[in-house]
Amino acid sequence: MVKISLKTLKNRAKKEIEKAKDLKRLNEIFNKYLGKKGELTKILRSLEKLPKTKRMKVGKTANELKNFLKTEFEKKTQVIKKKIGKATEEVEWLDITAPGKKPLIGSLHPLTLVKRKIEEIFQSMGFSVVEGPEMENEWYNFDALNIPKEHPARDRWDTFYLKNGLLLRTHTSPVQVRYMEKNNPPLRIIVPGTVFRHEATDASHEFQHYQIEGLMVDKKNSVANLKAIVGEFFRRFFEKNVEFRLKPDYFPFTEPSFDIGISCLVCNGKGCPACKGSGWMEVAGAGMVHPNVFKNSKLIPKDWQGWAFGFGLERLAMLKYKINDIRLFRSGDLRFLKQF
Ligand code: DAH
Repeated sequence: MVKISLKTLKNRAKKEIEKAKDLKRLNEIFNKYLGKKGELTKILRSLEKLPKTKRMKVGKTANELKNFLKTEFEKKTQVIKKKIGKATEEVEWLDITAPGKKPLIGSLHPLTLVKRKIEEIFQSMGFSVVEGPEMENEWYNFDALNIPKEHPARDRWDTFYLKNGLLLRTHTSPVQVRYMEKNNPPLRIIVPGTVFRHEATDASHEFQHYQIEGLMVDKKNSVANLKAIVGEFFRRFFEKNVEFRLKPDYFPFTEPSFDIGISCLVCNGKGCPACKGSGWMEVAGAGMVHPNVFKNSKLIPKDWQGWAFGFGLERLAMLKYKINDIRLFRSGDLRFLKQF
């Protein structure tokens, strides 16, 4: 009786295993026959009730059947797993020989290039790079620089006044005072940074641009020293001997004051829109630090001599790369930017 049932059980199980399409179903079948309460497990457990000789005989067949089914399950599991693998392979197929997509590679903005180059040159001459706030107060932007409230020079630096009582700084010069208040001379610094002007734009003016301020203070310091440093800077920056000139000018925070001009490299001094036809391009204001500026920085004027300058970074970039319109820098035009 048991023998017959073992045979039918074998056939039934075999068929069911064959038909199973996935691992879930296969698992169900396994449990049905070989699980804790599985049909074959039950038979194996009931063997002990049989007389010894019969028990041995049936036991052998039942155990063989158990091993047989285990092997069948194992085989079928492999078959199903292989099928699943193939299916995912087809869906997730990857052609590793296909050429890759080239990422777009950007480049540094010309103003960044120029700023870094200038910093490098001045650092090699012992200058530290210092920064100050773009939102400035009236004292540092004007009064401390010897430009009192009703002074006509304020017109020259008209700016954007903010609701919080501050203003957008019109130049990097306020950092001279901020730095001297906290650091004793001798000192050598440059101050790169953004400045703002309330003004109409044209080929050589923007309402926002970069400046680089320079300041050197020592016991003995002169215009000759300023000229030497600036000349060395031009040589290294333009990588050739460049004609430049110091022309008398007026700034409230320096005495005497100059404007530093360089022969226009866009047109080689012939005259073009970038130099307003003069052949010269004003690239900096400069001068000897005014005693009042020392005073406002808590330094005793008679103890110190200092010179300062303020370069327009865009102007320098225009000369170096022969760019004839300042508005290109912030135009976001890739045809322009890709040239650097
Ligand atoms: N701050 C001036 C400007 O924005 C430029 C300048 C002139 C800076 C003379 C200086 C200086 O340090 O000495 O127009």
